[in-house]
Amino acid sequence: MIDLDANATTPLLPDVLDAMLPWLREGYANPSGTYAAAKLARQAIEQARARMAAWIGAEPDEIVFTGGGTESVNTALHSLDALTGPGTAVVSAIEHSAVLRCVENLTRETRLVPVDAGGRLDLTAFASALDGAALVSIMAANNETGVIQPLREAVELARGRGLPVHSDAIQVAGKIPLAVKDLGVDLLSLSAHKFHGPKGVGLLYVRRGLRFEPWLRGGGQEAGRRAGTENTAGIVGMAAAAAAVQRHLAAAAEHPLVLPRDAFEAKVLAEIHGVTVNGDRQHRLPNTSHLSFDSCDAAGLLILLDEAGVACSSGSACLTGQTRPSHVQLAMGIPETRARTSLRISFSLLNTLDDALAAATAVKLAVEKLRRVQGPGVGPVWLYSP
Ligand SMILES: Cc1ncc(COP(=O)(O)O)c(C=O)c1O
Repeated sequence: MIDLDANATTPLLPDVLDAMLPWLREGYANPSGTYAAAKLARQAIEQARARMAAWIGAEPDEIVFTGGGTESVNTALHSLDALTGPGTAVVSAIEHSAVLRCVENLTRETRLVPVDAGGRLDLTAFASALDGAALVSIMAANNETGVIQPLREAVELARGRGLPVHSDAIQVAGKIPLAVKDLGVDLLSLSAHKFHGPKGVGLLYVRRGLRFEPWLRGGGQEAGRRAGTENTAGIVGMAAAAAAVQRHLAAAAEHPLVLPRDAFEAKVLAEIHGVTVNGDRQHRLPNTSHLSFDSCDAAGLLILLDEAGVACSSGSACLTGQTRPSHVQLAMGIPETRARTSLRISFSLLNTLDDALAAATAVKLAVEKLRRVQGPGVGPVWLYSP
């Protein structure tokens, strides 16, 4: 299989699995214990904390390990909700469901800020939305389009009003540099499985001095900020993934994700007519390509590509299976008919140039086949009746 669905998840790099295995075998002791084996596990966690902190330009005591991206986001937003006074929660209209579903359950109203046609936050609308706001959450880059958001500018506007800002930076880590102090955010969420680490482990950056209310209560782990026995192997794996990704990026003259993505896109655009690249190409993650194919239902394309051994997505992986076009495309003003023809192709560090070119050929064949049977306009995919 050629896996081009890295924004959904990435495979463990070999170094990462090697780093984790000892902590799943003999290193299983509870890190809160007082005996030697427990102290070793504690040491490994604290080493990982220091590494993750250095990776994003934070201090070790600003890192809280969590059970993944969704948990980090929920922890951050519940803490802000609990500790800020009256006012709205301001979030972009293109946030991941981890943010959108979470804010629906806060004690306050939410204001969704629109994006422009390129999928970037509209800063003028954002500034207006800050009237009467109490907290802000803006993603660093979108998971569907890969469009990088003007986060630093948004933080500046919010901080000018004394408002705390959380950022879901889950799609950014491992793809472009991330420096929390430059961004000026108060809270920031990451998830290991998006950068070749294990699933079910993530972190929340909590700026030193920020008042914080834990969401998970129980034991006093993570300095009382996230209860629950630490996932030693997962945490070690996340730090190993960060180190491995850093090594990959440092070793390459050109960004190793850009080469296959650009080669794929160039071949698709050269060989298939009626293709639109969605999203601002100047502000895009190096690994993501979001494309619409005239007269091709994306569900049909996914079936044909799966048969050809190519895995990708018709939008956010979490939305696959829903027939509604994604909220991200609709927010960008992409008409429903076109939104139904869109694929998200996202590359990981393990994808080669050959993968990219073979996948482009598979897309071409799938599009040609679908257009032959569907004709102009998007209709039902009756090639594959159940
Ligand atoms: C932007 C974004 N936020 C949050 C999440 C949720 O992260 P996790 O799968 O670690 O819970 C994802 C994963 O799809 C994501 O892409």
